[in-house]
Amino acid sequence: MFKKQTVTDIDVKGKHVLVRADYNVPLSDGVVVDDYRIKQSLPTLRYLRERGAKIIICSHLGRPNGAPDPKYSLFPVATRLAALLDTPVDFAEDAIGSDTVKQAKALKKGQVLLLENLRFHAEEEQNDATFAGQLAELADVMVQDAFGVVHRAHASTDAVTSHIPAVAGLLLETEVRTITTVMQRPKHPLVAIVGGAKIADKIDILDSFIAKADLVAIGGAMANTFLKASGVAVGESLVDDDELQVAKDILRRADEQSQTRDFSFVLPRDVVVAESLDTPKSTRIVDIASHTVADIESYPKRVPNTATHVASHEKILDIGPFSAAYIAGAIQLAHTVVWNGTMGVTEVQGTQGPVGPFAHGTEMLVEAMLGQLGGAKPFTVVGGGDTVAYVQSRDLTEAFDHVSTGGGASLELMAGRTLPGVAALLDKA
Ligand code: 3PG
Repeated sequence: MFKKQTVTDIDVKGKHVLVRADYNVPLSDGVVVDDYRIKQSLPTLRYLRERGAKIIICSHLGRPNGAPDPKYSLFPVATRLAALLDTPVDFAEDAIGSDTVKQAKALKKGQVLLLENLRFHAEEEQNDATFAGQLAELADVMVQDAFGVVHRAHASTDAVTSHIPAVAGLLLETEVRTITTVMQRPKHPLVAIVGGAKIADKIDILDSFIAKADLVAIGGAMANTFLKASGVAVGESLVDDDELQVAKDILRRADEQSQTRDFSFVLPRDVVVAESLDTPKSTRIVDIASHTVADIESYPKRVPNTATHVASHEKILDIGPFSAAYIAGAIQLAHTVVWNGTMGVTEVQGTQGPVGPFAHGTEMLVEAMLGQLGGAKPFTVVGGGDTVAYVQSRDLTEAFDHVSTGGGASLELMAGRTLPGVAALLDKA
């Protein structure tokens, strides 16, 4: 249940409405190169326009260190937003100040004004009450729709709500409702796919999944750390040696779960290795299932079998086909899948088609999630910056049930943490 008031609970006709959006989008040469977050903000903006609100949108872009920097101007977003909304979008060169107040006051019903980057003022990230008051001066009411940044207590997500009534936008509501439902009342079997580099960033979400899911599958660079912690030779793979103990503790907690209920924690059993990302000819598959560092050490004179050992100069760059098929099989039997983190180095481009040499593991899981391997299609929730970027690069955003606009915010929500920008909104009556 979403317990906060939303834009549908308030009367916005003729009112000045401050919408906090997350327009932290990638730019190249002053042009928006990925407009997913902008598109996802449209339902709230259309809703407000149709009801005659005067709309003032604020956002951050990048991390400009509290001072104006043209590289981080939101102006290119105004151009893209105008095209998507099919209406002119006025631009204010400062988020606060008398000129901006004048521009806001001059708005007519349904008109839209986008403010310059909030983070050009250090006070935004300091959650400064005076700065928040200046923002609040622009409007009668605020609509929080910036899901990607509500895990931060900043002036535009927290302090501003002490000055004007603040409710949730339609995107924020969908994000929180979908992710919370999947984490609190999932339809089982629930399969969680977790990848990415650092275990430290994902300890809480791993624990959350270990407590709730029926199967947790690990891939990406974090799998290397788990494999090394379990005694498997990983050559020159990316490993976080500081996290070996953390990995062992998680493996122990996962093991405890497996002993009390039907639960599996799946590490890769085979891997794709290469000498480097630039030497595709050195790519090969290694079956690591039962071969550990201890095996090698106990036979010092025996040359380790190359089919079953990652050589000391090799790097693990993807999960192998057996592991991918195994996880895909679990996905085919699942009702719900939560996916956070790719299984391999998916950003390396393919030379013969769109799928790169170390993206085959991820691709097989994607096919299973989308029901393309047969069987029913599970309800899929995708979160995390690199995962969403991959889904977008494959033009598959529409194919999943929910692709979150949040990186850190979706991780924190999945881990069960309170998001300050949501907590600050008005409760439902
Ligand atoms: C994001 O891209 O994850 C959000 O916009 C938050 O950005 P931040 O990490 O710079 O606060």
